[in-house]
Amino acid sequence: MPESTKTATLTFDDKSIELPMYAPTVGPEVIDIRKLYAEGKVFTYDPGFTSTAACDSTITFIDGGKGELLHRGYPIDQLAEKSHYLEVCYLLLYGELPSATALEEFETTITRHTMLHEQMMNFFRGFRRDAHPMAVMTGVVGAMSAFYHDSTDIADPRQREIASHRLIAKMPTIAAMAYKYTIGQPFVYPRNDLDYSSNFLRMCFAVPAEDYEVNPILSRAMDRIFTLHADHEQNASTSTVRLASSSGANPFACIAAGIACLWGPAHGGANQACLEMLKEIGSVERIPEYIARAKDKDDPFRLMGFGHRVYKNFDPRAKVMKQSADEVLDLLGVENNPILQVAKELEKAALEDPYFADKKLFPNVDFYSGIILEAMGFPTSMFTPIFALSRTVGWISQWKEMISDPGMKIGRPRQLYCGETLRDYVDIEQR
Ligand code: CMC
Repeated sequence: MPESTKTATLTFDDKSIELPMYAPTVGPEVIDIRKLYAEGKVFTYDPGFTSTAACDSTITFIDGGKGELLHRGYPIDQLAEKSHYLEVCYLLLYGELPSATALEEFETTITRHTMLHEQMMNFFRGFRRDAHPMAVMTGVVGAMSAFYHDSTDIADPRQREIASHRLIAKMPTIAAMAYKYTIGQPFVYPRNDLDYSSNFLRMCFAVPAEDYEVNPILSRAMDRIFTLHADHEQNASTSTVRLASSSGANPFACIAAGIACLWGPAHGGANQACLEMLKEIGSVERIPEYIARAKDKDDPFRLMGFGHRVYKNFDPRAKVMKQSADEVLDLLGVENNPILQVAKELEKAALEDPYFADKKLFPNVDFYSGIILEAMGFPTSMFTPIFALSRTVGWISQWKEMISDPGMKIGRPRQLYCGETLRDYVDIEQR
């Protein structure tokens, strides 16, 4: 936490309160309102946290105006191009890019934690066959706390580290098994000679009767999708993880809470919703109809994969994703994919429309990701689980940062109460 160098004065009624201000390394200054209630007997009101910094952090920075995303200072486009997912995981967790030896050790550790406790298979089998894989993931990740008791003591830094490694390592296995279960195929166990993304693709697409040859270009595209989703500062699911963990809950329970939050269509569920929308639009001719619906205040329809709370410019992840979509479809020999066609034309039409321009609505990470994932063979129901898998490292890094802070407090927002004032109970005969 930086030193306060200046103050802001808040004046109301007959009170004047001096509030310390802090300058971040980059980004807007913040006003520290922690003593506001004690000194002024007032709360601030900010539903949706549009102007509230809920923590200090050194992990990820977004400049929404510029369309810039930095992990530990490194821009996401450089990481997507030059690095790879496990190296980015190391960077997020430990703060610096690893040396070659440190990276090798980290990769070995993650690889050695990919298997699940065998009894967890019974847990999967308890779900209905038509369960959404996100429902399975939420349940199974929460259940990890019942299987890995030796890494639930959050007061022990070593246990925290083991829990972090376990979550990053086992999430692909859990996501792949959730998928296999819903399509009625046997679980495919992880293979330690494969890299992280190749292993995930194989666990999803191999069957015991026939192995799966991992295409290195698809594996690279998968890795890039993981990298682009790795962290995104204090978004809804990350804030959920932080709030859940502020009570001292174990890491597996907290990450399960993050997965539950991510599922919603305004957040991680948008990739599934976006591809479904593109398919519903179906052809370039119908784009004007959907643009008109998105602009109509009386129609709840929104362009999925468009808009962002923080980005008021291009989401830098969307740019890389668009390029990846072209590469993957090229590789798979998919020419003139009608959905990609609709996506590109829809993006163009929206960017040229004053409604979207005035509100600064641009394509976000979810706009093109579904097209790539579908081309790779994933059903739409797997899009959000893949987001959850990728984001686990972000959740875990933010959780680790929070737990290591000696000043950590339980999260406990206040409210603007608009309900009834005190009144006496009325017996049922008198109502
Ligand atoms: N289509 C049409 N209008 C939109 C859209 C959209 N996708 N997004 C925002 N608007 C309008 C909205 O109606 C509002 O208009 P007005 O000011 O006239 O009432 C204005 O833009 C501001 O919208 P908001 O809902 O107040 O903005 P927000 O910051 O609360 O919401 C959002 C951000 C991402 C939830 C929203 O843009 C949205 O629902 N987008 C579609 C869902 C989506 O793609 N989500 C993925 C986000 S990126 C991945 C992730 O982080 O999970």
